[in-house]
Amino acid sequence: MIRIAAVGDVHLGEEARGRLRPALEHLPGRADVLLLAGDLTRHGTPAEARIVAEEFADVGVPVIAVLGNHDYHHDAVDEVTAILDGEAGIRVLEGDGVVLAVNGTRLGVAGVKGFAGGFEGRCASAFGEREMKAFVEHTVDTADALRSALRTLKELDADVRVALTHYSPVPDTLHGEPPEIHPFLGAYQLGEVIDEAEAALAVHGHAHLGCEHGVTPGGVRVRNVAQPVIRSAYALYCLDETGEGGEDQAATPGAHR
Ligand SMILES: [Fe+2]
Ligand SMILES: [Fe+2]
Repeated sequence: MIRIAAVGDVHLGEEARGRLRPALEHLPGRADVLLLAGDLTRHGTPAEARIVAEEFADVGVPVIAVLGNHDYHHDAVDEVTAILDGEAGIRVLEGDGVVLAVNGTRLGVAGVKGFAGGFEGRCASAFGEREMKAFVEHTVDTADALRSALRTLKELDADVRVALTHYSPVPDTLHGEPPEIHPFLGAYQLGEVIDEAEAALAVHGHAHLGCEHGVTPGGVRVRNVAQPVIRSAYALYCLDETGEGGEDQAATPGAHR
């Protein structure tokens, strides 16, 4: 059994130093890997990235992350990535993947920030103004990057493939968010790629008012792990070596929002 802990949208700022750390102490006994689904900082500054690094360094299991839109805000993505990846050993994915040996199974995680654009019947299209075309082009580019990352996992003989994004690949996990902003919370192209790759699980954040459980049109389990949704330090999901999952595990006790 592979035990996956996941959380997104922790939005750590100066005042949050040390806030999550106590709830991560027992992580190695409960999970084999921790996935971070973006929006780790408030404004994407290097100072905030250092707080994230301190919080998630040496937690006793591999930590794999994607960045979110908040982590892009200060336009210091390279520096933020270097702080997380270089100083804290957090593997930051953007269009690439990593394979970990877990209890005799090869777990592959493919990650990309993703982008907005909307879902079937209510989505942006690459038509008209240059700005609109550029918007949709970014959506398509991020979906293509996820496709290529998931293909890489197949080439690396991953037994189980997990897709990690910040933006949502499905509308299901947006229930609770105002419908008017659904097109800004995710894009159907991400869901199509996850189905094509027959991923075992898709994990995302970004939708703070959404709900935890969803499924792609092709039947892949989707979990929104934005911290305001899971109301816990992390959520836990189990997969067997074929990628089939048991029930989600109970929320982590003693967690801090
Ligand atoms: Fe967020
Ligand atoms: Fe976000």
